[in-house]
Amino acid sequence: MAPISLRDLRVQDQHTCLRLRDQLIRERYAVISLDTEDSHQTLEGALRRFEPNQTFRFPARDGDSCYDDSTKRCFEILYEAAVVCTRALWSSSPELRAAFPAIQASVGDALEEDFTLFSEETPHAPFSSTDAPFGHTFFNIFNYDHGMLNEHKDRGVVTAIYIEPGRLDTEAVSQLWVGRSEEDWVAMDSLVERGQLVIFVGEELEAMAHEVGLDLLAVNHCVRVEPRGDYVSYSHSRRDPDALPVGNRRSAALVLCS
Ligand SMILES: [Fe+2]
Repeated sequence: MAPISLRDLRVQDQHTCLRLRDQLIRERYAVISLDTEDSHQTLEGALRRFEPNQTFRFPARDGDSCYDDSTKRCFEILYEAAVVCTRALWSSSPELRAAFPAIQASVGDALEEDFTLFSEETPHAPFSSTDAPFGHTFFNIFNYDHGMLNEHKDRGVVTAIYIEPGRLDTEAVSQLWVGRSEEDWVAMDSLVERGQLVIFVGEELEAMAHEVGLDLLAVNHCVRVEPRGDYVSYSHSRRDPDALPVGNRRSAALVLCS
């Protein structure tokens, strides 16, 4: 499946916008190609710099949330990609446009030249208030040598994920799995290439789409060795018991919430 070009989505090429919508309906995920080497290097660098922390996630659940230039930029890249994808869905779906104009307005505000994340007043928070466009959005960098995620759905409009795959020569590392049914799980880490993002639908969009008769379903996903394994407790502080101690994937994920 050919990736969808972020550049084409950004210029609102209608064929590309429709492809994104159709892929999310049919496959339950979409692969987006970033348009600059610079964005890719920034994401890669932020994940690399997080590694010596030897912890599962940034920002920590309680504690360090000091964004540096690299983590800020990482947030900005994923935020822009998620907003551009949302705009593409609204532009290819007259039903969503008619029923949910507030999302379209937020998209417009978020993409305004003068809208900035991490303003001078709030250098360690992306939004100065929750009234900002998609001001409930959250973001994490993860290192799966130190944690894992049980099956869940994301609560937002869309989720954008950048993946640095783990060791590919073994099955004993955590991977991102997308569940399309009880039996049908797709391993995502080996599907993406350098410079690509994965996009999912979240529960907010599922509810809106349902109201207008569109089948954009929030996707079940987990990050672990085997997708059908038992629930693992304390998953935010220990890796999957079936995973090797090192060589697991890292990722940065942003859940765009209105
Ligand atoms: Fe998630």
